[in-house]
Amino acid sequence: MTEEAGIAIGDGIATITLDNPPVNALGAGLRGALMTALGAALHDPGVQVIVLTAAGRTWPAGADIREFGRSPGAPSLPELCQAVAGSAKPVIAALHGMVLGGGLELALAARVRLAEPGTELGLPEVTLGILPGAGGTQRLPRLIGAKRALGLMLSGLPIGAARAEELGLVDAVTEGGSAAAAERLARAYLAGEAELPEVEEQRRRVDPRAWLLAVAAARSGLGDPQLPAPGRIIDCVEAALLLPEDEGFAFERAAFEDLVATSEAAALRHAFLAERRAAKQPDLAHVKPREIHNVGVVGGGLMGAGIATALLGAGCSVTLVERDGEALAAGLARVATHHERAVAKGRLSPEAREAEWARLAGATGLAALAGSDLVIEAAYEDEAVKAGIFAELDRVARPGAILATNTSYLDVNRIAAATARPGDVIGLHFFLPVQAMRLVEVVVGAETAPDVIASAFALARRIGKVAVRAGVCDGFIGNRILTAYRTAADFLLEDGASPYEIDRAMVAWGFPAGPYQVLDMAGLDISWARRRRLAATRDPARRYVAIGDRLCEAGRLGRKAGKGYYLYPERAWQGVEDPDVLALIAAEREARGIVAREVTAAEIQDRVLAAMANEGARILEEGIAARPSDIDLVMLLGYGFPRWRGGPMLAADQAGLLALRKRLVDYAREEEAFWRPAALWEELIKNGRKFADLND
Ligand code: 3HC
Repeated sequence: MTEEAGIAIGDGIATITLDNPPVNALGAGLRGALMTALGAALHDPGVQVIVLTAAGRTWPAGADIREFGRSPGAPSLPELCQAVAGSAKPVIAALHGMVLGGGLELALAARVRLAEPGTELGLPEVTLGILPGAGGTQRLPRLIGAKRALGLMLSGLPIGAARAEELGLVDAVTEGGSAAAAERLARAYLAGEAELPEVEEQRRRVDPRAWLLAVAAARSGLGDPQLPAPGRIIDCVEAALLLPEDEGFAFERAAFEDLVATSEAAALRHAFLAERRAAKQPDLAHVKPREIHNVGVVGGGLMGAGIATALLGAGCSVTLVERDGEALAAGLARVATHHERAVAKGRLSPEAREAEWARLAGATGLAALAGSDLVIEAAYEDEAVKAGIFAELDRVARPGAILATNTSYLDVNRIAAATARPGDVIGLHFFLPVQAMRLVEVVVGAETAPDVIASAFALARRIGKVAVRAGVCDGFIGNRILTAYRTAADFLLEDGASPYEIDRAMVAWGFPAGPYQVLDMAGLDISWARRRRLAATRDPARRYVAIGDRLCEAGRLGRKAGKGYYLYPERAWQGVEDPDVLALIAAEREARGIVAREVTAAEIQDRVLAAMANEGARILEEGIAARPSDIDLVMLLGYGFPRWRGGPMLAADQAGLLALRKRLVDYAREEEAFWRPAALWEELIKNGRKFADLND
């Protein structure tokens, strides 16, 4: 890796070019190089103006996230930004690409900021559980006002160059390359033909009353109190007004250092890196993906229509196949609805919608898929149905076409065996609603060809999804862990907790909804059908909680039926607690001779985490997932696991493997088969390692 800051001097101008591919992250090496180059420019009597620019695809996209939690090498980013801000020679920052986090703070320290069209600027630190710690909370409000600065810092979302110019965050948006424009400006300044903005001028513009009002409004609008970063950002912006400048910077630094050491920030960093790591498939490094232009989607239900919409958005031509004209019309109408919503929200232009619609065809027979490069089957979740479709696809699809199933539990190898080309078969497990859910589990069968796997990863990236590789087992990674979660919850239900207590405990832990709220939302009949499918192979010696079955038998199929674990008056979204359910559970306990015991929220949370992490450890042992962070990512992106807890494997690391294993051993005295700790726990503990050590 280069990590350079090259310097070129001519005509009184020193142009310093930052070079640390791929995103010019401001790691120690680059910071040191920039400090040296800056020193050289300041020292050279021939230099009167400094232009700061970056090579490659972007201006620095932030501090180097991988350095957090370790001791940073000198100079620190705040020191570097202070050196730029204190430069006796004006510094012009020439921006392009993603000007994010510490990168934007570096730009804020410059006297002038010029941006190319297409540049995006933002302070995403809050999404990493931290705050802008290199002067951003102090300089940004002075430049664009406290209200707008808080808006940027609390949302973490970037803005475009034009908006940044409107806000005064950049001085000008310039065509023809920002570095060339910066040099032109420098020359004009040296020739006395242009002036540069004064930093003092920004200070004079500050309106203390508006500033304090913005701080108060932001404080009253604070959401999730579980996360400390937003509150600390607001404190820093207040300090920027109330404290002398030096103290304001020190206040920000102290807050940054507090936050960066929290478990929440560690978890959010882990989530960021896990997402990038999941794409790394060493065995596929030199494998060329197959070309995918024409895609067939079998099934126009919510899933199929969602997948078709995503593919159209990525430029594919799509043929949607349904069993008859009526079902096809409904499927196409679903795609049209997605398009209408996207247009209404401004995410799709009417012209782009027309173009996408023109690439969509419908058919009522699989023969229409003869020319497809990829077929994604999103039909009813039944092995016989899917095997029938694959057998026919085998007859009609062209040689080399990829045949994918969107099954969420079924055996991809058995589905592949319905064809004479199992190497072309793969699982692509999407999540509902497809537009909102970024996860795709790529389920690799025993015979799936490497270029088919590589194609699945390439396609996922193309449609804006995060692909995670999984092996074949019942439920792959996500649904298998979900089953363990629900099983642990069901044991507690039968032992004495109410569904409402369990849901409240898990929501308090950070899930957006508890397991029984989710079951009611999805429909209890879905998991009931699966349990019946597995009934014949279930080990009768294992504990089986039949409360869910009893509810289904009583017609309580969830929200759609007006009642499930909760009651839904007038089909309301929010369910209310139902004494009839508690009575049904009590009867079930009595039938099994169980005397209800007291269960605390902490016990619920502990057991659920232990169950999920233990299932994760088994999944690793069996090679279903390649690394613990892949498991975490699946649970974060697909199952509502709180991002700031990092996923079950990181949460297990943070809870301590020794303590968690001990709990598993204790629980295993009640039910050996479910709770027995996977062997991996002991192996890690013995070697003083954590799950996170298995990631790289
Ligand atoms: N630090 C370290 N590595 C980073 C990084 C960063 N800030 N940003 C990106 N990278 C790495 C990625 O891990 C990835 O590495 P890999 O090739 O080994 O997988 C590589 O750069 C390319 O990144 P992406 O795959 O994400 O590329 P994209 O083109 O999809 O996205 C991006 C580019 C929008 C810049 C995206 O990477 C991103 O959002 N980065 C993080 C930006 C950020 O959060 N910055 C703030 C950091 S905190 C900070 O600055 C603190 C300061 O206030 C003190």
